[in-house]
Amino acid sequence: MRTYLVTGGAGFIGSNYIHYMFKKYGDDIRIINVDVLTYAGNLENLKAVENRDNYTFVRADICDKEAIAKIFAENDIDRVVHFAAESHVDRSIANPEVFVQTNVLGTAVMLNCAKAAWENADGTFKEGKKFLHVSTDEVYGSLPDDENAFFYETTPYDPHSPYSASKASSDMLVKAYMDTYKFPANITNCSNNYGPYQFPEKFIPLMINNALNGKKLPVYGDGKNVRDWLYVEDHAKAIDMVQEQGKLFETYNIGGHNEKQNIQILNIILDTLQEMLPEGDPRKELVSKDLITYVEDRKGHDRRYAIAPDKIKAEIGWEPETMFKEGIRKTIQWYFENEDWMKNATSGDYQKYYEAMYSNK
Ligand code: NAD
Ligand code: DAU
Repeated sequence: MRTYLVTGGAGFIGSNYIHYMFKKYGDDIRIINVDVLTYAGNLENLKAVENRDNYTFVRADICDKEAIAKIFAENDIDRVVHFAAESHVDRSIANPEVFVQTNVLGTAVMLNCAKAAWENADGTFKEGKKFLHVSTDEVYGSLPDDENAFFYETTPYDPHSPYSASKASSDMLVKAYMDTYKFPANITNCSNNYGPYQFPEKFIPLMINNALNGKKLPVYGDGKNVRDWLYVEDHAKAIDMVQEQGKLFETYNIGGHNEKQNIQILNIILDTLQEMLPEGDPRKELVSKDLITYVEDRKGHDRRYAIAPDKIKAEIGWEPETMFKEGIRKTIQWYFENEDWMKNATSGDYQKYYEAMYSNK
């Protein structure tokens, strides 16, 4: 039975990945989820799996060498899937330091502990051990407004925000371990994810939540920045396929070929909310395009992201399965059915964050 060490499994993509893996492998795998539970980590996301015999949660910081080394010492870990990170660009602009701490130093700790646990006396690595570093397309910088321009695995790194700079640094560390020690790893660089359990600081859940509450919908700049949206379960599947079928030491880009301007996404969300809300539901009156408010642009706002997922398709056979129209309906349905989750996520510290972030916009 393979044992997985998943970092950041209480966050958005990590929790979706854990659900995907138990759906796919059932009792044939064991997952240890290490998460320190920052504002973005939420054990509610894992309620459905918490009582499984083959699931363990450990609250620990990935920067804590002793805690991570102890997990490796006490378990024969076969796979590391490293999600844990500070993930929100706006927060990185306001407070970059924690991004360096978690994303760079935390990744170094994960690499060191895995290397120490997996290395043989002669410097080779135990058979079958694999580390997958989950990264982002933002490391490649920004593309022009040209629908034929894409990010490839060979595109030079050119990060702009403190978040993407910290992720680029962590990618470089993984590359250094692969080049120097032949450390058995892969890197995946994925585009924007959406779906259940996404924290409402991010564009799609923020807009769904604000619209349902009749609150302003803050669109940065001219609203024409382009993102390439991928349904989160498709990302989870891609990660598993890369780890099991990909060539070691390679990078794979993961993207949805679903590039849309932010304002287009927002209009789709508002139209879909109107379609899905039943007649007589008081929220139907609140959801309105009049709420759209253009606000001051994000500092250093990357214009356009677009992944060419050619390599992962050719070598591994992965393709996005969920069309945006279907994915956004599933996402909205999930938020309809999980109002308490949203209420809990947006209470307390989120209010303070929202005030600080949007009050002068
Ligand atoms: P998230 O912010 O929702 O979750 C991050 C998780 O990491 C949280 O559970 C948090 O508690 C945990 N964490 C943070 N610091 C930690 C620490 N020091 N020790 C242990 N746990 C810690 O993030 P997400 O959107 O799920 O992103 C997961 C990963 O995927 C990140 O590495 C991110 O860079 C990458 N990624 C995200 C997207 C996206 O669209 N969200 C796209 C591509 C890549
Ligand atoms: O591309 C992958 C990246 O996607 C991940 O690596 C990051 O972890 C993830 O947060 C995401 O980054 P973005 O900055 O693209 O996502 P965000 O949801 O913050 O913003 C999406 C777009 O919407 C972006 O152009 C900024 C804009 N935006 C965002 C917010 C929160 C607005 O116009 N208004 C808003 O209030």
